[in-house]
Amino acid sequence: MKIVHISDLHYGISEHHNKSVERKIRDIASHHPSHLVITGDLTNTGREKEYKGISEILKRYGFFEASRLTVVPGNHDLYMQFFAHFKTPESLYRKFAGVRKYLGLMVNYRLKKYRKDLNHFKSYFQASFEGVITSRGNLCGYPFLKILDEKTAIIGIDSNQLPGIARNPACSNGVCDMQDYRALDLLLTEHPMKGKCIIAAMHNYLYSYEQVVKMSSKIFARFMATRKYERYIELFEKHHVNIVLHGHYHFNDEYYVGHKKKIRVLNGGGSRWGKWHEIDTCDPVA
Ligand SMILES: [Fe+2]
Repeated sequence: MKIVHISDLHYGISEHHNKSVERKIRDIASHHPSHLVITGDLTNTGREKEYKGISEILKRYGFFEASRLTVVPGNHDLYMQFFAHFKTPESLYRKFAGVRKYLGLMVNYRLKKYRKDLNHFKSYFQASFEGVITSRGNLCGYPFLKILDEKTAIIGIDSNQLPGIARNPACSNGVCDMQDYRALDLLLTEHPMKGKCIIAAMHNYLYSYEQVVKMSSKIFARFMATRKYERYIELFEKHHVNIVLHGHYHFNDEYYVGHKKKIRVLNGGGSRWGKWHEIDTCDPVA
């Protein structure tokens, strides 16, 4: 099965940008992949107009049903309501009002609001969730397992962290908290995918803090970090995951994680400028 992976399309940046996103999807469709995986930040600010725009494009080119499309949410799909307060004229007073409102939202953002945002994201791609398997402890359907054919299974993971002044002040951190950990472990224990190529799809990355510092800066590494990401790696090793797909850090990359075995990781974060990743699950080194 030929699977294409892209990420971080940020539909909604500008009219010009939206046209280039459509060109990319059209280009991908012309290569006739069996399945498309998009690992978050499909929209730039999570507004209705953007969700409608990107979901219509995907539908137009045949990436709509569960057999053709898998999506996981990125922080821009869920949290950009926070940043909207800074999109005002640059007067000092307005900036101050924006910061106050931002902090107010942070303090009041709870699991209930998060569920609402997650369900809002899912509502635009509902058909792609048809028939997925979930387990106890899942949050609005994540993590899920989707069996594509006798050789291929995809795990959809929501790796975003809840916003909070201390835990996630810039709304850009990821995490594998204990609830995610248990739900994922239970799902893969109850449904072992032996003999299949298992692909995990998530938004946040598996680079270590030191790696990101080397590639950018300490500030960037801190605000973009996936907290407790080692837990994901531990579970991926335990349940024989073959490939991990993610985005978030905006460049295309391929690297390996794991201690007992090497797991291939593809970063599709630069999809909106660069090429996409293509995986053939019949390939023994997939
Ligand atoms: Fe992004």
